[in-house]
Amino acid sequence: MRNLLAITDFSVKEIDELISVALDIEKHPKKYQEKCKHKKLATLFFEPSTRTRLSFESAMLSLGGSVLGFSDANSSSSSKGESLSDTIRVVSCYSDIIAMRHPKEGAPLVASKVSSVPIINAGDGGHNHPTQTLTDLLTIKKEKGRLDNFTIGFCGDLKFGRTVHSLIQALSRYTGIKIVLISPEELKLPDYVKKDVLEKNNMEYVETESLEKAMPELDILYMTRVQQERFFNEQDYLRLRDSYILDVEKLKNAKKDLNILHPLPRVNEISVEVDQDSRACYFKQVENGRLIRMALILKMLEDK
Ligand code: NCD
Repeated sequence: MRNLLAITDFSVKEIDELISVALDIEKHPKKYQEKCKHKKLATLFFEPSTRTRLSFESAMLSLGGSVLGFSDANSSSSSKGESLSDTIRVVSCYSDIIAMRHPKEGAPLVASKVSSVPIINAGDGGHNHPTQTLTDLLTIKKEKGRLDNFTIGFCGDLKFGRTVHSLIQALSRYTGIKIVLISPEELKLPDYVKKDVLEKNNMEYVETESLEKAMPELDILYMTRVQQERFFNEQDYLRLRDSYILDVEKLKNAKKDLNILHPLPRVNEISVEVDQDSRACYFKQVENGRLIRMALILKMLEDK
């Protein structure tokens, strides 16, 4: 039985196949509309979500399957003190596959040890978010036509941003990728990601605090929200939250074929005027998230 805990649980070849299936689903949705008939997806969200949970649910419904679950830990028995392991054991009796989000790093790994059905990590604390990465890869593939040979800037909260950690892991397996890490000192990429991913794979990377200086060389700009919920101290959050605000002015020095990505939700880091720019791809990512999750559910139920 396969789980998806980190993006590296899938080979590059498997990711390519998922992308091909997602593109086929986009072209021929009818072909897939009964593929998961009588199958049930449970979405267990111990942390807030809009896109990830609803795109999983929409994906399963588009495959003819059904969904169950909770979107708030307070409405589940974990509020009575039930352990995660017990909750997962129970839910795996009611479902064929589970997508879960949890504030604790490693919670999906714990779940995978006791589950009788596949576990998909839909975000664990400040650690990983592999299905957002699949979404990002599909978006890059559609926009650029390739997954190699580009310079990508990650801007904002690189410390707690799990989408950043997972996408960097994924990109470490493609060639010709240059990474520009743009953040304030306090929100730099964690050392473990630098050592275990960037350095181990001899990836080219630079760190800077200046989005303006980095902008002209970027092919892709991946903006992120400062992750308020992971801060210990409100003062620090308030001081750092508006470190970077992408606006039309800052885009003047950008490449014509830049792609601006953001996993969303956005707070202040991209001003709404940028939404009109043809280089803004973050709402396209939303639709790609549903398509790739359809491909993922299909694959994981087949592998099972
Ligand atoms: C991201 C997450 O949950 O990590 N959102 C998402 O799933 N699209 C990014 C964020 O919350 O900032």
